[in-house]
Amino acid sequence: MNHFIELKDFTAKQINAMVKLSYDMKINHLKYTKVLKGKTVGILFQKPSLRTKTAFCVGAMQLGANVIYYSPDEVRLGKRERICDASRTMSRYLDGVVMRTFHHSDIVEFAKYSSVPVVNGLSDILHPSQVLADVLTINEYKKNIKKIKVAYIGDGNNVCHSLMYALAILGGDLHIASPKGYMPSTKVFKDIASNSQMKGNITIVNNPKQAAKDADVLYTDVWVSMGDEAQRSKRKKAFGGFQVNDNLLKTAKKNCIVMHCLPAHRGEEITDSVLDGKQSVVFTQAENRLYAAKAIFASLILRGQTRHK
Ligand code: CP
Ligand code: NVA
Repeated sequence: MNHFIELKDFTAKQINAMVKLSYDMKINHLKYTKVLKGKTVGILFQKPSLRTKTAFCVGAMQLGANVIYYSPDEVRLGKRERICDASRTMSRYLDGVVMRTFHHSDIVEFAKYSSVPVVNGLSDILHPSQVLADVLTINEYKKNIKKIKVAYIGDGNNVCHSLMYALAILGGDLHIASPKGYMPSTKVFKDIASNSQMKGNITIVNNPKQAAKDADVLYTDVWVSMGDEAQRSKRKKAFGGFQVNDNLLKTAKKNCIVMHCLPAHRGEEITDSVLDGKQSVVFTQAENRLYAAKAIFASLILRGQTRHK
């Protein structure tokens, strides 16, 4: 386990172990205050972030490591110098790098040349550290992720793709409702369908009520992701009937929890009354990003990565 770039690189056993470690980071945090003492991690982001930046920065510091944050304009990845050169240089200073990029291929390219662990902190295609934390959240509220129905309503985006991989690998049941033209990538769907290790059930429909019916978890994300801003008005029209509101929530189970990775665009993909309602767990979900970030660092960096190859 050298990098944390996509969930499909991990078995169910490895994901469950990271989720278990995340939970232990949550309830026994004092046990881990020195595990990364003397290490330094870099946070190299090309897009804005509140939760991911904070979770990985605070997480590293709580484990005893130092942190350097590089803002989008600082490194100008691939523009000021080639990705391969930036990566090899950073490997000489740092013990791990968390990246957020527009192009998933930039993370893959950076990792190819890195001799220290690279963590995907969101790309255009995937958001695996988000979904690792989401599995922790679902386990906390619902106990057994394999025995429940998870419904995702909205854009078939990076968060949706990582949820698909997680549920497929862990053996869950995920129902996705997206408008035509905004369904999850066929490549991701085929990848999952052709992998015999991914035993979960993924259903994709156009009707939000059908997906939400009797769901235990109702999950949504923004209609306009970072990088899609030019399509805002077109997307707002297409997603009109895909709002998570009180009516849709009524179709789910009475004890259904509502999840959103945040930031939320209130009044678009989710209403105030649902986001602030008693079934919403979004702030615990956000808090759990911290424990997942710590578990990712600890799992990767402590694995005795050889530096400066
Ligand atoms: N959920 C999430 O990744 O939030 P940020 O974009 O604020 O990091
Ligand atoms: N799908 C969103 C997630 C933000 C955390 C985006 O990529 O902007």
